[in-house]
Amino acid sequence: MKKILFGFYILVIIGIVVCISNSNIFGHKNSQAIAAGERVYNKNCLVCHGDTGKGEGIKAGTALNNQNFLNSVTDKNLYNYIKYGRVGTGMPAYGPRLSEKDLKNIVAFIRNWQTENIDFNVQKNIAGDPANGKKLYTLYCQNCHMEAGKGMLRMGTALSHRDYLEYTTDKQIWISTAYGREETRMGPSLKGLDGVRQLKKQDISDIVSYIRSLEEKK
Ligand code: HEC
Ligand code: HEC
Repeated sequence: MKKILFGFYILVIIGIVVCISNSNIFGHKNSQAIAAGERVYNKNCLVCHGDTGKGEGIKAGTALNNQNFLNSVTDKNLYNYIKYGRVGTGMPAYGPRLSEKDLKNIVAFIRNWQTENIDFNVQKNIAGDPANGKKLYTLYCQNCHMEAGKGMLRMGTALSHRDYLEYTTDKQIWISTAYGREETRMGPSLKGLDGVRQLKKQDISDIVSYIRSLEEKK
């Protein structure tokens, strides 16, 4: 009888431990940050990036609630994109307007939209021929991203913008080009993916080296 009772107690304890670890008690701090971030987002960003972050705001904003995007950027990238903005495009710089805490809370809120983990198949060595990249860019990208990556609201983002290129690696530009951003106008380019463009890995590296060559030197 004693042995059975002892076994019963052990089971109860295991049950309690499992319940606690599955509940959000330990994630409490993060859920507070997400809730605080949501309030700042709704006040400042919703008007452009939309209620669900799919870029459906009444003013022009890109899709942030996008699995390809979220899987290709770090929290630090998001933080820098928001802090420095892309002055001259629709995206203001929030560094002067929001506190560090607000910025970090928005990042937690946006990160919470990520529901998938995607393994991108990226070319190992992203080095290329910018002259060929320019040709391909003119053919396949310019009608949306404009000449020399200047960008245009609602058409395509500003790829040559200093604050985009400064806080974005070649690998990240490669991934955005190859895989696109699902449910936006930015379709995939890598051959085999379901895109309008069927480019080879090396073509994409050539385009990336062209885009990188547009970076203004400080
Ligand atoms: C039909 C229009 C269209 C074409 C053609 C197009 N893009 Fe885009 N691209 C977009 C839009 C719109 C976005 C922003 C999508 C969003 O997140 O809402 C974008 C996003 C991107 C991004 C991410 C930039 C950022 O601001 O984060 C990169 C990199 C990019 N495009 C590269 C390219 C390249 C290279 C080509 C040509 C091979 C190309 N695009 C062709 C419309 C286009
Ligand atoms: C007035 C409209 C507007 C507001 C307000 C706005 N954004 Fe943006 N945002 C944009 C546009 C337009 C872009 C794309 C700019 C470009 O590169 O051409 C952008 C780009 C971004 C990017 C980079 C996305 C990418 O595809 O690389 C992030 C992250 C972002 N915004 C987050 C925010 C957050 C968070 C807020 C609120 C604190 C905010 N934005 C407020 C219009 C806006």
